[in-house]
Amino acid sequence: MALLNALVKHTDLQLRTAEQFSKLAAAEACCRRCSLWKDATQVVPGTGDSHARLMLVGEQPGDREDLDGRPFVGPAGRLLDDALSAAGLSRDTVDLTNSVKHFKHEQRGKRRLHKRPNTYEIDRCRWWLTKELKLVQPRLAIAMGATAFRSMAARPGKISQLRGRLLNDVCEVPIYVTVHPSYLLRTQKKPERDRQYIRFVGDLRLCKQLAGL
Ligand code: URA
Repeated sequence: MALLNALVKHTDLQLRTAEQFSKLAAAEACCRRCSLWKDATQVVPGTGDSHARLMLVGEQPGDREDLDGRPFVGPAGRLLDDALSAAGLSRDTVDLTNSVKHFKHEQRGKRRLHKRPNTYEIDRCRWWLTKELKLVQPRLAIAMGATAFRSMAARPGKISQLRGRLLNDVCEVPIYVTVHPSYLLRTQKKPERDRQYIRFVGDLRLCKQLAGL
């Protein structure tokens, strides 16, 4: 009986967190904390498991994500899916989110070119990332790239110096720093690209272990 009660309580808690996760997404859709919402199609909230032990944090939605409403559905997302699978993970078992929730871009003819969010925009959007971290309470968050590091640590940092480091005291939860998947897409020379990809998969595998998955 005690076991059944504990199970009911646990399921109830899970349902409540999933509901709060949807409410958070709805609140993000009304965000006016900076001006990026004006040119974006929609907000792109975090997705995945609202109880995930592992959270992956990227930079900001790109063109595809802005149209689709989900993070990492473009070329960087395909690479990330492959790397997650090679590391024995999937996007359903992690929380996948961005530091900045709206697509920042510049219109050039018919094309919308990605623009890096500035410090002000990253810092304003941290409000949402902090709420997501408190809700999901992952054991570990992965900062993929400099924007994610800036957002979580509230200070700038060089990925070339921080990559592979586990930092326990810069954020609400321990963070592990690695490269952004787009960095791998930009690395065009074959042997180096393969080497970087293998290293990235190694980072994900290590984080899986550290998160107890
Ligand atoms: N790059 C990101 O950082 N996030 C996305 O959602 C897509 C590409």
